[in-house]
Amino acid sequence: MTLNISVIGTGYLGATHAACMAELGFDVLGVDVDPEKIDALSRGELPFHEPGLPELIRKHVDSGRLRFTAEVSEAGSWADVHFICVGTPQVKGGTGADLTYVDAATAGLVESITKDSLVVGKSTVPVGTAARLSRLVAETKKDGLNVSLAWNPEFLREGFAVEDTLRPDRLVVGTGSEADEAVLREVYAEALGRETPWISTDFETAELVKVAANAFLATKISFINAFAEVTENVGGNITTLADAIGFDTRIGRKFLNAGVGFGGGCLPKDIRALQTRVGELGLDHSMKFLDEIDQINLRRRKKAVARAFELLDQDIVGKKIAVLGITFKPLSDDVRDSPGLDVAARLYNAGADVAVFDPEGNPNAAKRYPRLGYVDSLTEAVKDAEVVMLTTEWKEFKALTPADLNDLVASKRFVDARNVLDAKEWESAGWTFTQLGRKFEG
Ligand code: UDX
Repeated sequence: MTLNISVIGTGYLGATHAACMAELGFDVLGVDVDPEKIDALSRGELPFHEPGLPELIRKHVDSGRLRFTAEVSEAGSWADVHFICVGTPQVKGGTGADLTYVDAATAGLVESITKDSLVVGKSTVPVGTAARLSRLVAETKKDGLNVSLAWNPEFLREGFAVEDTLRPDRLVVGTGSEADEAVLREVYAEALGRETPWISTDFETAELVKVAANAFLATKISFINAFAEVTENVGGNITTLADAIGFDTRIGRKFLNAGVGFGGGCLPKDIRALQTRVGELGLDHSMKFLDEIDQINLRRRKKAVARAFELLDQDIVGKKIAVLGITFKPLSDDVRDSPGLDVAARLYNAGADVAVFDPEGNPNAAKRYPRLGYVDSLTEAVKDAEVVMLTTEWKEFKALTPADLNDLVASKRFVDARNVLDAKEWESAGWTFTQLGRKFEG
């Protein structure tokens, strides 16, 4: 008999996990407190952009393997395995993780469970949370039922969420017993059949693997951006430097792209939550370096703004600046902690006439910063611009050539804040072309 699976929380992580579990052949019930979200998902509609996911949801809503409900009790009486996939955002007014949703979802679920089952946390949480929730499950489950908790962090990247969930590069499970591990082996049998590395461990390691991975990735990006601060002053080519060290397989070239830095719903909040958590444990010194990683990253945004000022001889008020790319990365409509959006807002606040174009992100950005000038095409954005700035490396921006813009802009000034264009090509077409990480002589 195949397992019935429930997924609590149908945001980015949950919707992806639910659809992928259905794709693997399980019957899946997605649960969310937001009835509008449930209605939309039941029609196969997705409130965010993720390549391939709407198709997969529609496929399994139609096949009958994927259903959605606002009633957690339906999950409690039906599923054998419950995945907790709710968000853990940065707490308002602080740097730690807000565990309100994880706590409420787990407590509400356990109250409603009426059959033997396994509760599996997937949300990114501070170390110690799984042990605490495991005790909560043991204390509040109905007498006579066999209900326990496991932790199984998720490493999916936005833009590749379906691929990362169906074909993960590793699976990490923190469990309290071999029986619980066996259930998870059944859930992930397909990936295990492909010899996907399986890391079976305790709660603490499982929780820490996730934040350690994100802290390492953030560190790699800020490491190369720290060198960008040096090459910006002494000269040198930051991309060549990254290529050269990246050939050392111990270092690797990935996540060494210098530019306007990292953003999104994970890396920034995860490094802050990790520092906060180790601080609570009296170990501030251990993760102190992450504060510097954060600061290097945030300085990149200021540097991008400063470049626009330099290009305009500090006279920015009323000048049209085209900002290309407002999502925190391509293939996403997510603008959470987006460097491009931050830069656009800073330029606007300094008095510039900012025209923003992003293939997917404008509606979400407009909710956060309604006063920026959002336009529907690249042509509209760059028309009569005094400066063009590339802040997210969408494919169409990476493919830009001087000929595409020469006759549209008011002045040929460019800030390539992601280091993705060929400087020589633009310079020889008469552009004052600058990149972050490259010295600008003015
Ligand atoms: C990240 C982790 O990669 C993923 O494993 C985890 O599950 C969630 O957090 P995601 O937030 O989707 O995924 O984005 P990611 O691809 O890691 O990029 C994060 C940010 O770093 C983006 O803003 C990106 O533009 C930036 N970045 C990435 C760089 O500035 N330079 C690089 O070389 C790579």
